[in-house]
Amino acid sequence: MTAAALLSYLDTQVATPTDAWDAVLRRTVDDLAAACTHFDWTGIYLVEGDDLVLGPFVGRPTEHQRIRIGEGICGAAAAAGAPIVVDDVAADPRYLACFASTKSEIVVPIVAGAEVLGEIDVDSDRPATFGPEDLATLEAVAARLARLSRLARRLPAAAEAPGGGR
Ligand code: SME
Repeated sequence: MTAAALLSYLDTQVATPTDAWDAVLRRTVDDLAAACTHFDWTGIYLVEGDDLVLGPFVGRPTEHQRIRIGEGICGAAAAAGAPIVVDDVAADPRYLACFASTKSEIVVPIVAGAEVLGEIDVDSDRPATFGPEDLATLEAVAARLARLSRLARRLPAAAEAPGGGR
């Protein structure tokens, strides 16, 4: 499994949506975790009102099933509608600890137009491990999930954010 194969699968679903939204999210976290060996916990949170609610994940169960938008690194990324990369979670006062082994984290929101639908959250046991390639991969996945979500909800395509379209 490679990230490219996941992107290809998601492109197929955007062109011809055959799989249920839940199944697409499940496959997304499974494939990301399999493709990226430094991803020690990989999950998707979805926005429900003022909260982020945990959907499918790969890794140990977390107590953070529901996070208020604005709280934690997850909530900060959702509030800003922009990715956050934290090289050393111990040095970030926003960090909500899930696992003692976690050293770094990346959060990439799933954004359609001005709407934040959710986010992809990845923890690593290695410090400063998330680089530009990880960010690009997760942004490419998130952009496709945003399109698919709108298709699943039968909404018109959102205007692309600047730099979008990957
Ligand atoms: N560390 C996150 C909480 C979620 S866990 O990483 C799964 C945060 O600070 O928001």
